[in-house]
Amino acid sequence: MVELLNGHDRPRVPETHYLDNRIFTDDGIFREEQEKIFAKVWLFACHESEIDQPGDFRCVTIAGKSVILVRGPDSVVRGFHNICRHRAAEVVREDSGNARMFTCFYHHWTYGLKGELRGISKPEGYEAVHLDRSSLGLVPVRCEILAGLVFVNLDHEAEPLRDFIGEIARGFLEPLGTIRLETFHFHKAILKTNWKLWQDNNSERYHAMLHVANRRTLPWVLGKTSPMKLRIEARGHSGYWADGGEALVDYAKGGYTSGADGALPGMRGDEMRVINLFPDLMINIRSNVVRLDRMVPLGPDRTLVEWRGLGVKGDDDKLRAIRIRQHNLFWGPTGRNLPEDVLAVESQARAMHSDEVRYSIIAREENLNPTDDANIRAYYQEWRRRMGKSPATLA
Ligand code: FES
Ligand SMILES: [Fe+2]
Repeated sequence: MVELLNGHDRPRVPETHYLDNRIFTDDGIFREEQEKIFAKVWLFACHESEIDQPGDFRCVTIAGKSVILVRGPDSVVRGFHNICRHRAAEVVREDSGNARMFTCFYHHWTYGLKGELRGISKPEGYEAVHLDRSSLGLVPVRCEILAGLVFVNLDHEAEPLRDFIGEIARGFLEPLGTIRLETFHFHKAILKTNWKLWQDNNSERYHAMLHVANRRTLPWVLGKTSPMKLRIEARGHSGYWADGGEALVDYAKGGYTSGADGALPGMRGDEMRVINLFPDLMINIRSNVVRLDRMVPLGPDRTLVEWRGLGVKGDDDKLRAIRIRQHNLFWGPTGRNLPEDVLAVESQARAMHSDEVRYSIIAREENLNPTDDANIRAYYQEWRRRMGKSPATLA
């Protein structure tokens, strides 16, 4: 008799090597992640070139809360909860812009760029109670910048940003932090998937075979080993690059123009490097151009993804055109790779909702070859530490 296969049987691999798919579909887990991860860790918010001048501001959503990032008259970037101290309306209602001060639209209380309460309309009404303005500034949010990347953290107890990122920073400090970059590309979309499935897709290399372009341009995709190695760091961060050897992207083999012109500091022509920061940032460098992915989780199966492209500030038209072309070839909304990745993660989300196959397998062990799953396992061990439950057993 044929043994019936049961999709709820656990894979016969160590507990660290598989995931319960309900971590991607369950409402309660989603809410817990917002509290225990997104409200506790350093989250990438934007590139500092997007708030370049005094008065430039940008609003971002962090763990479901609106936060204003603004460059002050002293050029310091600060973060504040976007909530009026009068009766809690949102003070800033635009995504971004430049302001000399912020005026709440409801009763016109005004705040300076350092968050201080500057003006109260019809102030005589408060004379009887001696309202103390100095204690009614916008509530600050921690904000720190590393290599041009602006991060915020809702937790006042959290470690400094540099300690949180740790050693993996060596993958991006030189190309991003020793030259002035600027955001030249921004697009966003709501993907019908769980936020972690997008981060997994950005972190695992095994799926490189999904991409027609990668099958042609990365010689190791269908072969065995690569000089590019996974880098596993503490706190769930990982990366993927080579310290030398033949680890370049073979654009010509795919019929594409090389991306070698204008390589960023520390990058070889046609070199590729990826850094995945826990929980939601990908920094992907293709020699002369940078892609940053940031996520705003909206629900277990809805994720707003923001895509940024960075080039060098002061590029001449020719070099900028080369960077834009190189960026859009693979990563633009109609690029070669991005739509294929979206198909994959939305397909997973649809199928996982049936709960007929309960587990995902992350069991590849290949000595840190790119198609090893070691970085995904490290990521989920950090998830486990912060959530206080195993992503395999939910216990
Ligand atoms: S709620 Fe902002 S001024 Fe009243
Ligand atoms: Fe991909």
